[in-house]
Amino acid sequence: MNTAAELVVAIDGPSGVGKTTVSQGVARALGYQSLDTGAFYRAAALVVKFHRVDPEDEAGVLAALSGADLDYRHGAMFVEGVDVSTAIRSESITAASSCLARLPGLRQVLVGRQRAWVAAREDRAVVEGRDIGTVVFPGAAVKVYLDAPPGVRARRRAGETSTTLREVATQLGRRDRLDSTRAASPLTLAPDAVAIDTNPLTADQVIAQVLELCRRRGIEPEEGRYRARD
Ligand code: DC
Repeated sequence: MNTAAELVVAIDGPSGVGKTTVSQGVARALGYQSLDTGAFYRAAALVVKFHRVDPEDEAGVLAALSGADLDYRHGAMFVEGVDVSTAIRSESITAASSCLARLPGLRQVLVGRQRAWVAAREDRAVVEGRDIGTVVFPGAAVKVYLDAPPGVRARRRAGETSTTLREVATQLGRRDRLDSTRAASPLTLAPDAVAIDTNPLTADQVIAQVLELCRRRGIEPEEGRYRARD
């Protein structure tokens, strides 16, 4: 499936950089919906675990996922109609999702679902992930790459969980490595993306910068269009 993606705002970057906060803030301001594509990889890991499939067995993984009902609505992830938003944030699912994200066949399936999600919203979406500006929506109107030093990201993440800073930093380093060195759609800065170092900025300042980029591309808040459905 191909999409013109003229209205899509793509937000990429490594773990713990604040993509979700920024995406949700930008989406709220524009009256768009936001899609956390990482939640799809995490939901896939949950399905694979449920079916007791070896995450290295790509054929088994694809079989387990074929026909699985994955849905993302207003910041929550659903599998077979059940809200799994909390379950997909566990340490084991986080690690398993990074492993699964290396499988090209699985990526193809999930990218198809992500494009369909956006198409169903007439391309009006803020989409966050690792490969949004490079692979999922190479024609996105606005492409942003958020970054911050690993120590800063680890500190932010540690504030959100009960895990110690050292453990968070180790896990983050492992995921950074997996996400940026894998052969299939690695995390990388698209040539036409605007890189923002979020380190010295508040979330609101980053959101304001992204909204300014949107404005320059002619994307402005649409009076209540999607707000009414939220
Ligand atoms: O953003 P997150 O931490 O919830 O993502 C979970 C895993 O999925 C992470 O290891 C990166 C991977 N991922 C990906 O490969 N491509 C995306 N578009 C989104 C996430």
